[in-house]
Amino acid sequence: MCGIIGILGQDGVASDLLDGLRRLEYRGYDSAGIATLVNGHIDRRRAEGKLRNLADVVQDSPLPGRTGIGHTRWATHGVPNLTNAHPHADERVAVVHNGIIENFDALRADLSARGISWSTDTDTETIVHLISAAMADGLGPVEAVKSVIRRLQGAFALAIIFAGHDSLMIGARKGSPLAIGHGEGEMYLGSDAIVLAPLTREITYLEDGDWCVLTRDSLEIYDSSNAAVDRPKVESAVSGDMIGKGNFPHYMLKEIYEQPSVVGDTLQAHFNPAEKRLNFEDLSLDFKALDRLTIMACGTAFYAGLTAKYWFESLARIPVEVDIASEFRYREAPLSPQGASIAISQSGETIDTLEAMRFARGEGNPVLALVNVTESAIAREADAVLKTLAGPEIGVASTKAFTTQLTVLAALAIWAGRQRGAISADDEARLSQALVGIPALMAQVLNHDDSIREIAGKVAQTRDVLYLGRGSMFPLAMEGALKLKEISYIHAEGYAAGEMKHGPIALIDDGVPVVVCAPSGPMLEKTASNVEQVAARGGRLILITDAVGAKRLGGTAEDVIVMPTVDSLVAPLLYALPIQLLAYHAAVQKGTDVDQPRNLAKSVTVE
Ligand code: G6P
Repeated sequence: MCGIIGILGQDGVASDLLDGLRRLEYRGYDSAGIATLVNGHIDRRRAEGKLRNLADVVQDSPLPGRTGIGHTRWATHGVPNLTNAHPHADERVAVVHNGIIENFDALRADLSARGISWSTDTDTETIVHLISAAMADGLGPVEAVKSVIRRLQGAFALAIIFAGHDSLMIGARKGSPLAIGHGEGEMYLGSDAIVLAPLTREITYLEDGDWCVLTRDSLEIYDSSNAAVDRPKVESAVSGDMIGKGNFPHYMLKEIYEQPSVVGDTLQAHFNPAEKRLNFEDLSLDFKALDRLTIMACGTAFYAGLTAKYWFESLARIPVEVDIASEFRYREAPLSPQGASIAISQSGETIDTLEAMRFARGEGNPVLALVNVTESAIAREADAVLKTLAGPEIGVASTKAFTTQLTVLAALAIWAGRQRGAISADDEARLSQALVGIPALMAQVLNHDDSIREIAGKVAQTRDVLYLGRGSMFPLAMEGALKLKEISYIHAEGYAAGEMKHGPIALIDDGVPVVVCAPSGPMLEKTASNVEQVAARGGRLILITDAVGAKRLGGTAEDVIVMPTVDSLVAPLLYALPIQLLAYHAAVQKGTDVDQPRNLAKSVTVE
């Protein structure tokens, strides 16, 4: 996936490039590099590993120049070493690239036949040689790029600079995102509005297939057929101060603590306080007419979708299918002509979710996108958009995006239930009130932080952890296991509590903590049997429950986290917090890189 930035500045741009890369590091952190024009010549600094390594290189060997590009990498083609670090360059052109050039083998063979020799294992080097060869054949930079773009298959966002052209930068996007920033006598390119936030809030988003020619005071945009087009300039909602860590040691912890407020903001957008009702009247989706919902998503967003299945089926009596987007897109699922699809994605960029959504649209399903980034490809291509108001989520492990997704989905399920006559006005009022009460209860749950840290100390010393839950606590169990795996590297599995006896029970011994999410309600007694099965085999129980559950089951547990008592509908929203804190503190105590766990990236724009 990778992050890219380009600056046509007034003075030296190296420090702004590094600063921008710091905000892009969530997109990849295998290696990083910058290139500028120094007296008209391309010069580069690159380093393997985290950005701080590049910062050290630049400190030892400063890079002047007011025209530059930068890149932070999540390796796809070629191992993450110095040689394969971007920018890739020859004496004429330097390129940073986010995406994958799928036909690079064929292009490479063509170029090799022309006597080009290769210095990296990357697909991106192909772009450098293609442009350079076109220029050697007599084309100017713009014509050269234009001729090369049409030969590239796959996904790309590119920023390109040229030796001897101090006021020229070319960008292009297909599949991967790219935004143009407008400054005072300066112009910028960046993977998203977050990287550009401290430089400018005036943004032009390129459409898929667009490419653009920037100088310090001009901008030309062309679409995929090379016709000149106008794209609007918009004010980005992201400001520089929204993307700091504040007083928190990690973005993840800051984002966990933001949940009461961002869940409140997200609810606010759909709650009519005068009528005390949730409202989705603006949504062009008639739930009464639907006979099926298909939900597609990846990672944490998938677990939000799975939770929503329980809600839509029980409250709105509508059958729901939830699929991992990377599976759904290839399995040629028959979709109901009376159905609709929901694509859930924090970034709105995840390529598998985007492609799954394109498949659903191609089959005639209207697609509703639930995204945190409204300028994203998924939002743009959807038939309708619902926004989570989580604000920028930087920590790679998703937290506040998850609970704001749950918030919108729970509210929508209540709305759909009412529309379809499946719940009464009284039920609607009761459930809406339960939802509206969640932000305040989340703030209370955060008070458990210290005791969860202590429990996490024990978890951090183990090799395997099981998470169990029933009903809508089952997806949460899987999300808890995912969180722990992602950031602490402890193996964990989330299971439906009732399914445990069909396999995972064999894993239980006194070295395996078993985290059980068991709010009181219709499932408590059933979960109680499973808890006793664990206890009987010496399993170390960490019980997350409320006062009723603690009374019923507390005696069997090594640790109990007592939550406020809530309607079981909204319990996943609240129980997400101890799950997140447990993973966070276990990771901190293991000394892992919480915000940038190994091998992961925040948004995955490759298959
Ligand atoms: C990556 C991230 C996860 C995220 C998933 C889906 O794997 O590490 O935290 O849940 O992508 O991302 P999306 O932006 O589509 O929600």
